[in-house]
Amino acid sequence: MTDASLAGLVARLPHLRLLTEPGDLEHYGRDWTRRWTPAPLAIALPADVAEVQGIVRWANEQGVAVVPSGGRTGLSGGAVAANGELVLSLERMNRVLGFDAVDRTLTVQAGMTLHAVHEAAKEHGLIYPVDFAARGSCSIGGNIATNAGGIRVIRYGNTREWIAGLTVVAGNGELLQLNRGLIKNSSGYDLRQLMIGSEGTLGVVVEATLRLTDPAPPSQVMLLALPNMDALMEVFALFRSRLTLQAFEFFTDVALRHVLAHGAQRAIDGDHPYYVVTEFDADESSQDAALAAFEVGLDHGWISDGVIAQSEAQAAALWRVREGITESLAPHKPYKNDISLRISALPDFLHEIQGLLGREYPHFEVVWFGHIGDGNLHINVLRPEHLSDGDFIAQCELVTKLLADTLQRHGGSISAEHGIGLVKRAYLGSTRSEAEIALMRGVKQVFDPKGLLNPGKLFG
Ligand code: MLT
Ligand code: ZN
Repeated sequence: MTDASLAGLVARLPHLRLLTEPGDLEHYGRDWTRRWTPAPLAIALPADVAEVQGIVRWANEQGVAVVPSGGRTGLSGGAVAANGELVLSLERMNRVLGFDAVDRTLTVQAGMTLHAVHEAAKEHGLIYPVDFAARGSCSIGGNIATNAGGIRVIRYGNTREWIAGLTVVAGNGELLQLNRGLIKNSSGYDLRQLMIGSEGTLGVVVEATLRLTDPAPPSQVMLLALPNMDALMEVFALFRSRLTLQAFEFFTDVALRHVLAHGAQRAIDGDHPYYVVTEFDADESSQDAALAAFEVGLDHGWISDGVIAQSEAQAAALWRVREGITESLAPHKPYKNDISLRISALPDFLHEIQGLLGREYPHFEVVWFGHIGDGNLHINVLRPEHLSDGDFIAQCELVTKLLADTLQRHGGSISAEHGIGLVKRAYLGSTRSEAEIALMRGVKQVFDPKGLLNPGKLFG
């Protein structure tokens, strides 16, 4: 690809903002994985849908690969541009397009941050309930591309549940209006759902109609210390049976150590191997129910200690411990695993995997945390200082192969919410059958015949 053909793009879209400075190529060519050296051709920052269509049509004519780009907070390399691709950043398309009080929907451009979506919903007395720590930087388009989950899935489900309609530029530049905000629509294949989680390989999401809902009732936040991993599932079952949970998250003492070193405040004294942050509806009876559940947990030896937040500030401080983990680990260049299982399969799987990781990673620091109430574990392996990035990743990949085999036997998934991207594409076959992958490739071929949308992501 040459500057001459970029000139063709400029001639076609004279008002298109295009960046080619090395600093911009580096900034827009990477995501939070930091594993690949960014090397995009250029960065296009369209201002509207027509410009997105123009870019995709031009890319088709010129055979240029396009990497759709949101907030680039992804952890699987899904937004990496390391091979001369054109990065198509939706960042300037970040406005609310409309609110419908009757339908209770908010229509937005794909480049809005999740935080801005939350604020916009709040202005109408409603909420968009998908939430997670990267809310200030990630974009709603990126959330849709990965079917993002986060900390409220136990109560509200994944992004998929909240998308009433999508406007998408397909691989040939054609504009698709998918589902148009309908609640019921039994008229054939649901292409909207196909787009959700497709990691920018089928089309570029340019606008979305989001369902909103009533604000959650007042809640309480509790931090619990647990003596072992088996207790995690016992406490989860106990709390779920007595309270209406809004979140149920866990982390280990290793995660706590990192997050405390990063500025979070200790809320429970002593050494405990496991912790849970849980949030639940706080109606009149729930305070008693929570305390009763806590007592039962203590009596059974499943809970060692706990605190309940007495104010919003305390609740926020407890959440900061959980939500600060990713940032506190980032300097250690963690190798990330984002796996999921049916909740019923977790106890057996956890037993097996604890043994496996203990054996295979005897000298590495392994940090466990995540959305245990959804069956979603984040297993982060930290790079020892004496190992190069390359050697470290190579060693981790060997273990991931074993992890993937174990997951397959237990019916789990190699990616719960981060996506496959580049990082996990070698393991797609542990979660999807050959027949499924063949069909997925066929779908890709239909939407993007020239294979120019986010090539190399999802499939090896
Ligand atoms: C989180 O839940 O904090 C992130 O999805 C996990 C991670 O950073 O691996
Ligand atoms: Zn997560």
